[in-house]
Amino acid sequence: MARKFLVGGNFKLNGSKESIKEIVERLNTASLDPNTEVVIAPPATYLDYTVSLVKTPQVEVSAQNAYLKGSGAYTGEISVEQIKDVKATWVLLGHSERRTLFGETDEFVAEKVKFALDSGLKVMLAIGETLEQRQAGITDAVNERQLTAVLNLVQDWSNIVVAYEPVWAIGTGLAATPEDAQETHANIRKFLASKLGQEAADATRILYGGSANGKNAPTFKDKADVDGFLVGGASLKPEFVDIINSRQ
Ligand code: G3H
Repeated sequence: MARKFLVGGNFKLNGSKESIKEIVERLNTASLDPNTEVVIAPPATYLDYTVSLVKTPQVEVSAQNAYLKGSGAYTGEISVEQIKDVKATWVLLGHSERRTLFGETDEFVAEKVKFALDSGLKVMLAIGETLEQRQAGITDAVNERQLTAVLNLVQDWSNIVVAYEPVWAIGTGLAATPEDAQETHANIRKFLASKLGQEAADATRILYGGSANGKNAPTFKDKADVDGFLVGGASLKPEFVDIINSRQ
């Protein structure tokens, strides 16, 4: 089954009006591989602004987080309804920085995934193991535990993209090798197939995230289960275009 290549750019807590304008204008004018879907996730304060700058339907905008209620007395939270109101179409949930720095549990992430999907947003669901977990040989078990929380609540995965991001590779310059990523992605797909059926698993895109850059992205090209990248630091730089075009 052909899965459309997807490259996400997670700006994290970076950027200003000036720098975001520069990034989006680069995407508006660059020659982007038409077979790549692009999703950029600016900080929430710039969602509306980013949407207003994007001039190509090939690029969609994502929030970096969202709460599990549409509105109400939840000071400081980010609303799915408001994300939709400003015409952003995706939300990134389960990022390891949310899990480790802000104490988001598997179950909390899963509830937010369900709420966002039910509200009509598409979800990039980030999962992945820490270095200690990798060294303990429990990478697949950790991924499966994080996925299971969502599988318990969500049966239709057609609007979920899984982003496998080994925590030890995030922001370290030490990306997983294409072979290691392929092996883990294949295990994730096998696990999804055991829960959702082969057809749904084959249709689900699995992105790799963790120090992806313009140089290493093409080395993942022939890995059958790597369906794109979730890019942090390099999404702020001109090389983001090279990652988008890394399949060409
Ligand atoms: O969401 C993106 C990931 O955390 C990867 O970040 O590309 O800076 O390593 P990075």
